[in-house]
Amino acid sequence: MTEKTLMLIKPDGVQRAKVGEIIQRIENKGYQIINMKMVTPTRALLDLHYAEHVDKPYYPALVDYMTSGPVVVMIGEGTNIVAGWRTLMGETNPTKAAPGTIRGDLGREWPQEAMMNVVHGSDSIVSAQREISLWFN
Ligand code: TYD
Ligand code: MG
Repeated sequence: MTEKTLMLIKPDGVQRAKVGEIIQRIENKGYQIINMKMVTPTRALLDLHYAEHVDKPYYPALVDYMTSGPVVVMIGEGTNIVAGWRTLMGETNPTKAAPGTIRGDLGREWPQEAMMNVVHGSDSIVSAQREISLWFN
């Protein structure tokens, strides 16, 4: 089934000049980027995007990280792309993410409390629809 998902290249990915490499991985995999822009997220947008995290101890650090500069916001399209993009990204903690994944190859842990893990992907079709309408309006 053809799906859409929300993909972000987070501020560390942009600042460390990994945009080209990440887009190349998406395109090499065969997924289509059907919309793309750069924005510096606001706190208000992040409170909605990360609604299930706002009460977590790491949330203030996550907001500092995500508002530290522009992010690349993309809508990806392809068969089973929601799960496929999460496989390409690797697991949340970049220390544990497998080599070969974006987080495993391009990320590491830093002293900051928030995990700086280079990319975001929606975790379900329902989340993807919600996140796409939040970021593209
Ligand atoms: P989560 O949705 O659990 O991970 P994923 O991005 O893989 O879907 O968490 C959202 C973001 O919150 C995650 O990318 C980085 C941050 N985060 C932390 O900084 N510390 C944590 O312990 C967790 C669980 C997440
Ligand atoms: Mg998540």
